[in-house]
Amino acid sequence: KIMEILLFLGVVVASAVSGPAGRYQGDRVLRLIPETDQHLQFLRNVSHTRKVDIWQPHSIDLVTTDRSVDFRVGANWASDVQAELEKIGLQYEILTENLQILIENQFDRIRTRSFSYDYESYHNWDQIESWIATIANKNPNLISRLKIGQSYEGRDIYLLRVGKRTGSPKPAIFMDCGIHAREWISPAFCQWFVKEAVRTHGTDSLLDCLLNELDFLVIPVLNVDGYVYSWTEDRLWRKTRSRNFNSVCVGTDPNRNFNAQWCANGSSNNPCSDVYCGPLVESEKEVKAVADFIRNHSSIIKAYLTVHSYSQKCLFPYSYTYSLAYNHNELANLAQNAVLALQSLYGTPYTFGSGSSSLYLASGGSDDWAYDLGIKYSFTFELRDTGKYGFLLPESQIRSTCEETMLAINYIANYVLNHL
Ligand code: ARG
Ligand code: ZN
Repeated sequence: KIMEILLFLGVVVASAVSGPAGRYQGDRVLRLIPETDQHLQFLRNVSHTRKVDIWQPHSIDLVTTDRSVDFRVGANWASDVQAELEKIGLQYEILTENLQILIENQFDRIRTRSFSYDYESYHNWDQIESWIATIANKNPNLISRLKIGQSYEGRDIYLLRVGKRTGSPKPAIFMDCGIHAREWISPAFCQWFVKEAVRTHGTDSLLDCLLNELDFLVIPVLNVDGYVYSWTEDRLWRKTRSRNFNSVCVGTDPNRNFNAQWCANGSSNNPCSDVYCGPLVESEKEVKAVADFIRNHSSIIKAYLTVHSYSQKCLFPYSYTYSLAYNHNELANLAQNAVLALQSLYGTPYTFGSGSSSLYLASGGSDDWAYDLGIKYSFTFELRDTGKYGFLLPESQIRSTCEETMLAINYIANYVLNHL
């Protein structure tokens, strides 16, 4: 009996940290570069029969020849799929032998007992929500908390306004994290950013000086329902959790749901796709909330930043077209310098460019939407890594990832402040 209870407790604890026990047991992650139409056709087949799940790019609809593809293959299909690949002469690399182990290994830091918030570990939504309340309460002269709306499942969506009170309206830099649920390093970065603002307050550091002149409008987790689901049910969930009419598949890709050539290239009108554009533009409550907020504050918002993972890129408009943004050269220059600042710390290689040329054509994204609204500095950051851990970046890399990313964000903010 005692053993049974102990076993039960063990399972409860294990599933509390890694989601339902063993969901991805034995699944592999492969990387390859399709070269022929036959290769593409094969990938389409295995994707449509759900034997594989395409990670990078984010959907089979975005896969083309001569571009690298990362995908998960279910444990039951791994040997079949690999045999087929060999048969059609498509070489592949095994990035991960057992995905479940990678999921469990994200939590690779030794937890010390401490009363202060641990910015070097991943936090679930309950913890983040109470962190948001606490940090705003403790720093009334620097931070205020706003609720900008609610998620589909009725959770509050918060925005932290970070900046020194001056009595007059200040120009602002908007930054959201956690548009995509499984990209856990993104909310970790927004929390780190706010912590740095508090820590350096009054030190005359660059960030401290920026906060005299600017406000940062920070959404720590935008897609809250998806984030919760990625903790409790499926670590690799990307979309929102809204129910779809006439389909058993749940959710819309919030970054295909903005009013920027909505539902055209690089998005899907299939509710089962990970890049589903949704039934209507801004159908997602989370997207509507952030779009309304930005529209209502468009005269003060001078830059739009959105934080994702993975692939180590700094992207700017456009993603929905190959046409160049009117200030393309300025954006390219700024992205290059931001990336140089980032790399100066640990040498992490980053690339930069317009979304369409450096990633793929993809419509309905928040960065293009904000840009077309008139916010001429608009950037998407894709943080670490380049695929070794992918979405499952271990906690031991939170500190270095956040430290280096701070340099890029500060660089951009300082530039924007000097070019108002
Ligand atoms: N990985 C991001 C996504 O697919 C990239 C976003 C780039 N911007 C864009 N508008 N597609 O959502
Ligand atoms: Zn993303």
